[in-house]
Amino acid sequence: MNVEAGWTAVATTDELHDATMKPFELDGRRLLLVRAEGRYFVIDEMCSHEDYSLALGCIKGTRIKCSLHGSYFDLASGQPLDEPADEAIRTFPVRTDGGTIYTRVD
Ligand code: FES
Repeated sequence: MNVEAGWTAVATTDELHDATMKPFELDGRRLLLVRAEGRYFVIDEMCSHEDYSLALGCIKGTRIKCSLHGSYFDLASGQPLDEPADEAIRTFPVRTDGGTIYTRVD
């Protein structure tokens, strides 16, 4: 598979174990690459509730928990699953090609 223009390599598949994450910056955005249940997700790094890094939280299944007030977010949709957060975090597409993980921010 050839990765099309607009996709940026952000990691290799051997960098992350399950339930771990890697913060990175792309086009001025602070993002998180997350591996959960064998899948890769790219989300905004900062919680939608307050300006707090989700990289300080933890992964449970395919959800990420903000460690400041405890809201969970669905990694695929970005939707908050409980209070106090009531806005989604942004999610971004992910592709893998060989051992490389790509994302794009449009
Ligand atoms: S800052 Fe994340 S739930 Fe409050």
